[in-house]
Order: sequence, then structure tokens, then C-alpha cells
Amino acid sequence: MARGPGSGDTLDHMATDLTVIVLAAGGGTRMRSKTAKVLHEVGGRSMVGHVLAAVQALDPARVVAVVGHQRDQVGPHIQSLWPEVVLAVQDDQQGTGHAVRIAVAAAGTSSGTVLVAAGDTPLLRGESLRDFAQEHEAAQCAVSVLSGVVDDPFGYGRIVRNEEGDVEGIVEENDATADQRGIREISSGILAFDAEFLVEALPRIGNDNAKGEYYLTDAVGLARDAGLTVGAFPIDDWRQTEGANDRVQLAELGRELNHRILEQWMRDGVTVMDPETTWVETDVRLAPDVILLPGTQLLGATAVGEDAVIGPDTTLKDCEVGVGARVVRTHGELAVIGDGASVGPFAYLRPGTELGGGGKIGTFVETKNARIGAGAKVPHLSYVGDADIGEGTNIGAGTIFANYDGTNKHHTTIGKGAKTGANNTFVAPVTIGDQAMTGGGAVVRRDVPPGSLAVSGGPQRNLDRRAPRETEATSKEEPPTDEGES
Ligand code: UD1
Ligand code: CA
Repeated sequence: MARGPGSGDTLDHMATDLTVIVLAAGGGTRMRSKTAKVLHEVGGRSMVGHVLAAVQALDPARVVAVVGHQRDQVGPHIQSLWPEVVLAVQDDQQGTGHAVRIAVAAAGTSSGTVLVAAGDTPLLRGESLRDFAQEHEAAQCAVSVLSGVVDDPFGYGRIVRNEEGDVEGIVEENDATADQRGIREISSGILAFDAEFLVEALPRIGNDNAKGEYYLTDAVGLARDAGLTVGAFPIDDWRQTEGANDRVQLAELGRELNHRILEQWMRDGVTVMDPETTWVETDVRLAPDVILLPGTQLLGATAVGEDAVIGPDTTLKDCEVGVGARVVRTHGELAVIGDGASVGPFAYLRPGTELGGGGKIGTFVETKNARIGAGAKVPHLSYVGDADIGEGTNIGAGTIFANYDGTNKHHTTIGKGAKTGANNTFVAPVTIGDQAMTGGGAVVRRDVPPGSLAVSGGPQRNLDRRAPRETEATSKEEPPTDEGES
């Protein structure tokens, strides 16, 4: 199948024709949200997005997602992540067996292996799904369950084994005897089937149970009764199969995912000074010897080059940070920071900011749609919007690029090697040439030719505070006009 939401790496191909069914029709009432449960995000990706990324690593022949509750949200989201996924609609949720029956009909699957997973397990990894499917196939099982041994099995389906240890069936919480409730080996809800068996077994699954639902897990007992081989393969890392049903669990899984992401980056050569206050989302890419200081959040598709130091207290979303750059107490989005450049403390980089190599965006500086050339500096207390600043130019402290006339946005261009004075206003559209200079406090409304010095505002007047009013102490000149402006 075509590329889905993952990193693009696929694992070794499965031996057989593989169909994956992702169950995502459930209600998610406990989220208490207008957003469908599987669309809630951890690590910058929806829960179902994580599941699809794991599935994608298996390179299956076909994927079916069962949607129902809030399917107007869930369906388009899944198709935006992975257009080839077939959507099967389950109007009323009569249980996992019912959901899979609808999915199998939609996929037209009749041979190979069918893997069933839930859409709300954000820690699930492709490797685990693949290992499970391979165990299932190697043991030539009609049906297998990915199981886990946990301290508190409450709420889960229990794996019932006989004295020989062979799996006899799965019994759900509400249908379990007191003895069975003591079983600590439980069903993850992830099952693998021989497709021919599944197609034959699905219509035979009934709903004569405590919940009145069609339990997919009943297929295990059916296979057993028919004398077919069934398997339960425990996963060591149980958290991979855990779902989030409410926002407390969502936060717990989000923190766990973050720890796993950080641990992987640390093993790959990134220094994370304080993992408790550092958040790195799933799609972020970091080079070796990057240093992340406390309070750093790297979000979206942010990429950071070797030896860069980020933080403390910095949030970067969809940003690119160059080799050896330094970003301190900064909030940035859709910005590019060049190699060896320096940003902050207290900088706000808005979309379209591009800072060249060795350049500087300093303290209390906001930038937007601004290309600041290599070695150029905007060190202090400035707003740079809709501008190009050439290589090596220095912008004086407290400069405002006045880009908005109340109706339209306009552009300012400043050439290379220019030096502008403190407290300037560039009233766009305006162009300042290479090597030009401007005086302190200048309000620049007209273009400045290359190499020129622009000054605005009139001469200084010093008024004698002791003299009678309206008497000028040192100057008989007219008051300043500032080119007719006040
Ligand atoms: C299910 C398993 C249980 C396992 C547990 C693990 C069954 C009968 N039980 O129980 O053995 O221990 O998962 O979490 O399968 N869904 C649909 N349509 C439906 C019903 C469910 O799409 O009609 C989806 C849900 O959205 C969810 C998944 O299937 O993603 C599991 O359903 P849920 O009702 O949560 O099953 P559990 O009772 O948790
Ligand atoms: Ca569940």
C-alpha cells in the first residue's frame, strides 16, 4: 500500500497476504469531548494516527478502519493520514465481533492473515504487531491473541488455559466466574486470524452474554471447539496495548510516550538535561550532540542540527534549527534558524522567519515573514514584519517595521551591510540600500539610496524650565516638523 502516516520505514515483509482492521467506532464518552476519542492527540499525533503508523510499518495489502461514532470527524482524519485505508461504517456498535464482520465484508478478504487492533493505543509499535503476526503464522494458528500478564486484570478479557497450558478461550470481565477473574493473563484486544477461519467463524459468534454484544474474542473458543490451533502470545511491554478512555489516561500515556521518545533520542546522542520538563513530539528530528535544556518543547516537524543548544524554556513548532545554533527562552513557529545563529532570550519567531547563518534575533524581538541575512543582527526590542534584511546588516535597538497601514501589509527591504540607528520606524513599503545608515529615532518613509545616511526629525530644542513659558532658552528656530508629521 502507499505511504501512510509513519516515518516511511517498513519492517520486513510479512510472509503472507495481510489485512489489518482498525476498530474506531466506539463512543469515547469518558473523554467528555466534542472531539472523537481516537482523534485526541499524544506526542503531536492523534491516537489513531499512532496506530496507523504502527500498521503502516507492516506494509499490509489492505487496511480497513471501522468508524461509527463521530465518523464525520474520524473518517476524514484517517483518510487524510492514509488515503488508501478503506472505511467501513458501523452504524450501531454491537460489539467487536460485529465490527469485524462489517470490516471483512468491506475488504472482501477471504485469504491470508487478518490482524485486528483498536484505534486508541498510542504506544503501539509496528515491531510488536509484526512479531505477533509472525508468531501467529509460524504456529499456524486459526486465531491468536496478543496477551499480557498484569497485576490488575480488572475490565479485560481473561485468557483461559487448561492444565496443559493450552488456550481454551477468552472470557470477558462481566461473564467471568470468580475464579476466572483471578486470571492475570489478559487479552490486549489485538487478535490475528487465518482469514478463512475468520470468515467462517464470524456469523457463528452470538451475543448471548452479559453485555449482549458480539464478542470477537469468542472466536478463540469457537476455534478451540473445532479442534483448530489457537495461541496467546504475551507481550512484555504491555503499555503498548493500553488505550486511553479518559483524559487522565490520555495524560499518562502522553507522558509515557514522551519518556520513550526522549529515551530514544538520548540513546542516539542527544543531551536532555531534564526529561521531566522536556517534551519532544513524535515527528521531531534531532541530530547528535544537540542539547535540550529544561522547559523545552519541540513540536510538530521541528528539526534541530548538530551541536545546537535549545532552551531553557523554549517552544518550537515546525521549526528548523541549524548546526550549532543557540535558542534561549524563545517561542517559534514555522521559522528557520541558520547554522551558528543566536535567538533570544525572549524572542517570538512567527511563521516565515528565516534567520541566516551566524545571525542574531535578540531580546524582546518579534519577527514575522522576515528573512534576516547571514550575520545580520536584530539584537534588541524590535518588531520585524514583512521584511528582507541583507547580510551583515545591524538593526538598531527598538526598531519597528511598520508593515500595516490599517488595510494592507507592505514590505520593507534593507540591503547588505547597512547600519540603522536606534528607535527607527520603517514605514513600509520602503527600501534601504546596501551600506546605508539611518540616524537615531528616524522615521523612514522614503527609500534610502545605497551608502546614504538618512535622518529625520528636526534639530533639538532645549527649553529653559526656569524662564517664563514660551521662551526658548537656546534656539530661535521653528519647532521641528519631522517632514510634516507629528
Ligand atoms: C476488548 C476485548 C477484551 C480486551 C480489551 C482490551 C472484546 C469483546 N473484548 O474489550 O477482551 O481485554 O478490549 O482493551 O473484544 N469497537 C467498535 N465497534 C464496536 C465495539 C467496539 O469499533 O461495536 C471498538 C472500540 O471503539 C474500541 C475497540 O473496538 O476501539 C474495543 O472495544 P471496547 O468496547 O473498548 O472493548 P473492551 O470492552 O475494552
Ligand atoms: Ca477498551
